[in-house]
Amino acid sequence: MGEIINVKDIVEKRKILIRERIEKLKREKDIIPKLAVIIANSEEASRVYVGRKRKMCETLGILEEEYEFSEDITTEDVLREINRLNNDDTVNGILVQLPLFKHLDTSKILKAVLPTKDVDGFHPENFGNLIQGNGKIAPCTPKGVMTILKEIGANIEGKDAVVVGRSVIVGRPMAAMLTNAGATVTICHSKTKDLTNHTKRADILIVAVGVPHLIKENMVKENSIVIDIGINKVDGKLVGDVDTENVVKIAKSVTPVPGGVGLTTVHTLIENLMDLTEAV
Ligand code: GUN
Repeated sequence: MGEIINVKDIVEKRKILIRERIEKLKREKDIIPKLAVIIANSEEASRVYVGRKRKMCETLGILEEEYEFSEDITTEDVLREINRLNNDDTVNGILVQLPLFKHLDTSKILKAVLPTKDVDGFHPENFGNLIQGNGKIAPCTPKGVMTILKEIGANIEGKDAVVVGRSVIVGRPMAAMLTNAGATVTICHSKTKDLTNHTKRADILIVAVGVPHLIKENMVKENSIVIDIGINKVDGKLVGDVDTENVVKIAKSVTPVPGGVGLTTVHTLIENLMDLTEAV
């Protein structure tokens, strides 16, 4: 029988370090970091995510401003707002909450954020640096997973890592980070022929596809580490992409949902904001 990873404890430990960085910045440079959040969609989930980010900022005494747009907004309107925020020296990080309204040009909008204010690491310059192995700012969810792996003392070098999901926000940067850390990485996705064949070989299995309980106990390797990034609502309850209760009987360590990777995502966003603010 494996263990459910206590992500809450990991985050609380890291929060202490963040508080120290915030205090140092205030003491030495008289700066309080400020995050600007752009919301241009009508998704309920986005509001929940932004709410969590707002709460974390409030808890840590970080400034946060939200710019919410209605559906009649154009790409040019959003670009104009980003340009204004790029030129505002009091703003240290700009976050464009995804997805955007369908008629908006997401790629153009993400490219408009100054790489030095790109708190999500979605700008092609930051993304390219990550792929080249010298990234400074990396997308929050996969970076949070790397924190969890580090904190549980996982040995990544030379291990077989399998990432299920190829999204730009999670799967692709996750694979890059694991590659940079020396793992042999496979990315699986909806077109993968025999998923179990891959997942069963994984010393480290990371799942981010949004299919409730996709990963069953017969699909994981003994003594493996399983990281569940899925957040799905089933009968009003939040469940992950992993059948945690049964998978934990085979794996060594599994992250829970809720109370798992989601906690580190928000925390990592603040770490990124601190990195950007300290570099000013
Ligand atoms: N939508 C879902 N996850 C994320 C994230 O990590 N960052 C942003 N900006 N939007 C998201």
